[in-house]
Amino acid sequence: MNNRGNWGSKLGFILAAAGSAIGLGNLWKFPYMTGKHGGGAFVLVYLICILLVGVPIMIAEIYIGKKTQKNPIGAFTELETESKGIIHYHKNGKVLKPFNLIGWMGFIAGFLILSFYSVVIGWVFHFLYLSVKGFDNLNTHYLFDDLYSNAYLNIFWHTIAMLITIFIVARGIQKGIETANKIMMPLLFLILIGVMIYSLMLNNSFESINFMFNPDFSKINSEAIIQALGHSFFTLSLGMGAMITYGSYLNKKTSIIKTTLIVTFLDTLIALMAGVAIFSIVFSYNLEPSAGPGLIFKTLPIIFSEMKGGYVLAIVFFVLVLFAALTSAISLLEVVVSYFIDEKQWSRKKASWFMGGIIYLLGILSAVSSLKIFNESYLDFFDGLTTKYIMPIGGFFIITIFAFVLTDKEKQEELNLTGKLYNIFSFVVKYITPVLVLWIILNKIGVM
Ligand code: PHE
Repeated sequence: MNNRGNWGSKLGFILAAAGSAIGLGNLWKFPYMTGKHGGGAFVLVYLICILLVGVPIMIAEIYIGKKTQKNPIGAFTELETESKGIIHYHKNGKVLKPFNLIGWMGFIAGFLILSFYSVVIGWVFHFLYLSVKGFDNLNTHYLFDDLYSNAYLNIFWHTIAMLITIFIVARGIQKGIETANKIMMPLLFLILIGVMIYSLMLNNSFESINFMFNPDFSKINSEAIIQALGHSFFTLSLGMGAMITYGSYLNKKTSIIKTTLIVTFLDTLIALMAGVAIFSIVFSYNLEPSAGPGLIFKTLPIIFSEMKGGYVLAIVFFVLVLFAALTSAISLLEVVVSYFIDEKQWSRKKASWFMGGIIYLLGILSAVSSLKIFNESYLDFFDGLTTKYIMPIGGFFIITIFAFVLTDKEKQEELNLTGKLYNIFSFVVKYITPVLVLWIILNKIGVM
């Protein structure tokens, strides 16, 4: 039990949790979703979701991890025992433990997300490689489509992405995960600040600020709200146990509320900065912000290839995306690996390489875009399944268990919250967050 590892320092944990949260969600998804939903209105709704849904669930996850010091499946087994049998019930002499299902859902989500996430990291690698080689002006428009349809190339870069992720996780909590985050996260902040300042100096950059921060309320519809809610799970790595897992390597002294606020703040800040930078670049060339998933892989390369100094900007930009994405991929693999270390007594090396290998094989489905399931590529299918269903459903159970099964006394002590503040917190966690999350779920399954 004691050899499962722990963070070397508080900063190490904060950087790792921020590393998990800040990823393709911030640099790739958030800008294109904002573009698609017309800018400011979407940003506003997103910020409200982060506050009312993201922050409470992150507190709950880190809490559960820190308290149980276990992987998500082990953590819920322990909470189940603590619920004193309110929830588990007997069937034909067998005790059913429904809490465990939540842990298992997270485990499966980690599996599925990493399998397609790694393919997208592969795209980033490919564009980094193309940037170093120098974009060919004439063909920039087709670079992404060429890559997308080339299965071998996708598998090649997916292999590289998985190998790096596995290698880091196999080295352990401090030597692997913490060290990787301590190197990549500060560099990521520096690079993004540089890219943002540079992009703000371009023509029309004020237009991007206007686009992002001037909400047009007529554009707020239920579709935008649901997307924003779903995205708040993805971007903060919630609803599938990543924060439970990272929280489980915390020592007793770290403040859960403080770290949650720092991590959420950083994640939101990076998404907004990336949005400002990317839209400044897009507007300065009079292109459309609503390009969809192709925004950073199609629209930006066109501009990079035409812009003076675009060569350097392209390299720096894709390094930035790469760092963000790798630090998230690590946390996805850790969710799966921690189960085998805790519950099956596997060595970390064996768990990382073996499970990483299986996820790699599953990822090939997403790497080959011509393979389809229900008329969608596997990448889109796994993305939708996890972001729209598994994470919100997981988040719903995590927050309700936190709110209703754990006692007020222990929460007050551990969170160091008392009096009015605790009452407000408790009200949000019991009646606001779960209701909002339930609303997305019902909406998604078509009930509402
Ligand atoms: N939060 C990551 C991102 O924004 C994705 C992620 C989801 C990572 C779930 C870990 C767990 O890209």
